[in-house]
Formats: sequence, C-alpha cells, structure tokens
Amino acid sequence: MDLFEHEARDLFDRYGVPVLRGGVATTPEQAREAADRIGGTVVIKAQVKTGGRGKAGGVKLADGPDDAEQLADDILGMDIKGHTVHKVLVTEASPIAEEYYVSYLLDRGARGFLAIASVEGGMEIEEVAVSKPEALARIPIDPISGVDQAKAREIVAAANFPAAVAEQVAAVLVRLWLVFVGEDATLVEVNPLAKSTDGKVLALDGKITLDDNAAFRHPAHEALADAGAGDPLERKAHEAGLNYVKLDGDIGVIGVIGNGAGLVMSTLDVVAAAAAEVGAAGPANFLDFGGGASAEVMTAGLDVILGDPAVRSVFVNVFGGITACDAVATGIVRALDQLGDRARKPLVVRLDGNNVAEGRRILAEAAHPLVTVVATMDDAAREAAKLATVEA
Ligand SMILES: Nc1ncnc2c1ncn2[C@@H]1O[C@H](COP(=O)(O)OP(=O)(O)OP(=O)(O)O)[C@@H](O)[C@H]1O
Ligand SMILES: [Mg+2]
Repeated sequence: MDLFEHEARDLFDRYGVPVLRGGVATTPEQAREAADRIGGTVVIKAQVKTGGRGKAGGVKLADGPDDAEQLADDILGMDIKGHTVHKVLVTEASPIAEEYYVSYLLDRGARGFLAIASVEGGMEIEEVAVSKPEALARIPIDPISGVDQAKAREIVAAANFPAAVAEQVAAVLVRLWLVFVGEDATLVEVNPLAKSTDGKVLALDGKITLDDNAAFRHPAHEALADAGAGDPLERKAHEAGLNYVKLDGDIGVIGVIGNGAGLVMSTLDVVAAAAAEVGAAGPANFLDFGGGASAEVMTAGLDVILGDPAVRSVFVNVFGGITACDAVATGIVRALDQLGDRARKPLVVRLDGNNVAEGRRILAEAAHPLVTVVATMDDAAREAAKLATVEA
C-alpha cells in the first residue's frame, strides 16, 4: 500500500525525521485555516499517489491565507496522471539551498535492502538516474544489521554529501531506517531531502510503500488504507479474499475468471487477441480464485465480475490441478443458482485437467441458459468475444 505524502510526513515526524509543520485540507477554506495557523508563506501540495506533482502544477507557494485558499481551490479537483486531487497538504515553506535524494527499498533481486542516495535530488531525480547514474550511490544494506550510525556515514560518504550536512544526513538516515523497519515498508523515499538556507536538513517530501503482507502486525495501518479511493468492486473482492483487478480504462467488456496467476495472465492475452479479431473491446477485469473453487468462492467471484457494469460476457478458464473440475463446475452451477436474477450475462466456460469429464457432465446436466461450455482456451476466448459484441 502506498501512502499519501501527508501520511508519510506524519510517520516521519513520529520517528524523529525532521519535517515542517503542516495540515491537510479537503476544502479551500480548510487550506486558508491551515495557512493562517502556520503563518507566513506556505506550500500547497496536491495529495495524490503518483509522482511529478510539482511539474503538473500540483505544488504551489502561497503568500498567506488568501492566496492559500485560492491556490487550494485551483489544485483541489485537478487531475494528475489520472489521479483526482481530493486533498492538499499545507505546509510551511522553507527557503531551500540544496536538494538531495535518499531512499531505502526492498531489492528483490539481491534478496536484501538497498539505500540510494544522491546530492542531486529534487524533481529531476528520475532523469538523473538515467543520464547520470554515477550521481546515485547505491549501497546494499544487510537486513540483519540494518542502518546504524556507521552504516549511515558510509551512505553519506558514498553519495558525497557536503561535510556541512554529513552528520545531519546520517542522523536522518538512521531514523528513516527505523521507519522502514518499524512500519514494515518496502520503500521509504525522501525527495527532496533539503538543506534550508539556514543549514537545516529537512524531509520536504516523502513516499512510503507499506508491505501488505505485514499488515497483520500493524493494526494502525488499516486507518491509512485509502477507503475513498480504489474501485468499490476491488474492495468487495478483497473483503471476500479474492484477487480481483479492474483493468485500467473503461473500454474492456469481457470479464475473466481463472485459477492461478499464470493461467489468468495468459487468458488475458488470448481474450485480448480474440476480441481484436471481432472488433470487440478486450478484458474488463480479471479474478484469480486461486486454489479454492467452492460454491461460496465462485458466487463471490461471479458476483464481483458480473457487478462490473462494463462486463458483457465472462470467460471462466480453469485448469484443474489440486482444484478438481467437478468442484469448479458445481461451484458455477450453485453460484448461478444463488445469484438468480443478478446473473444476466453469458458465461463461457472452459474446463480442463483434473476430473474434467465429470466437470463437463455437471455443467451439461445443469444446462444453464447463460452457460456455454467450450473445449479449448482459444475457442472459448473467441466465443466470449463474440458474445461481448451482442448488444445487451
Ligand atoms: N515546504 C517546502 N518549502 C519550499 N519548497 C518546497 C517545499 N516542499 C516542496 N518544495 C519544492 O517543490 C518541489 C516539488 O515538491 P515535491 O518533491 O513535494 O513534489 P514532486 O517532487 O513534484 O512530487 P513527486 O515527489 O510526487 O514527484 C521540491 O523539489 C521543492 O523544490
Ligand atoms: Mg518529490
């Protein structure tokens, strides 16, 4: 789970990472109040979970409460790379002398952690990484020993931080490591880590990604989950313990259900190709029900997939391994039974693998008017695409 900047800022604050005073506002009036409370020049920052806010016009200096209200009015509702701005962070403005970059991240390839640091931080860090990779110091971190004072100094030295800020940056690095470990993050990034004109090192922007697999250790993280954002069907699926993904854009019309990530991914490709052949739009969403094909799982899954108004047909593609095809077939029949009138869209089912004959027999016997059984994956995808072109 990615956090908003203001949430990262609050965590930094709690762990003693130096940040500026600030408050969140969802209306221009609240932004005015926050600016009034903080006093002087403030920065109004769009809170969206994507980068490049500054360049998109989502970070603005405001000269007092009136200006803050006006700028918040401009920024709220703005679209930044497909993310609508619903709140802004109002913080103290700091006169900046230098901008640095520091981050910790999970390095899956190395099965360890990595610190990245640069004295060329700010808004162009992605470009620096490409055009001047030597300006980024990359220091592996031993997961057991982590980042103590000595390790922090090593990072500072590797990135050539100026002597005047070395000790402050090292102290920040130690504290950021405490955030990283303490919150079970897979990314903690500060860009810019700024030196103000009076020589203080401050975290002016923060990105944190929390490891969802560690959520059980952090009851407090639940409150950080962005309830307002995200797809309501994704939430419903998540609550039912299903892996459901609504695909980007609103063009797809075919729902995809399968067991296992590999099969589902290849099904998406086959469906996209079949849809292109008949001039239909491709997959609208997909759901991986993994190893459990009980009627409950199928009902919950179909309920979610059919609940997507974009879906015109559904392709259920199952390769029975541990999950036997007869269990899947029974699941489908019971699910349709339970859904009753809520199931109105055609289902194309392809079953193969463990106990396939019995699975097909069960579906044939049920002879549900919405269900078409097709033997192969390619033919089934074509049938689903064809059905998707039929006007409802
Ligand atoms: N409190 C502040 N005072 C003065 N300047 C600031 C402050 N916060 C940000 N800035 C300036 O605005 C720039 C952009 O801010 P920030 O890093 O928060 O957004 P961004 O980099 O555009 O967003 P993202 O990190 O999402 O790409 C900073 O590099 C810094 O120069
Ligand atoms: Mg930034």
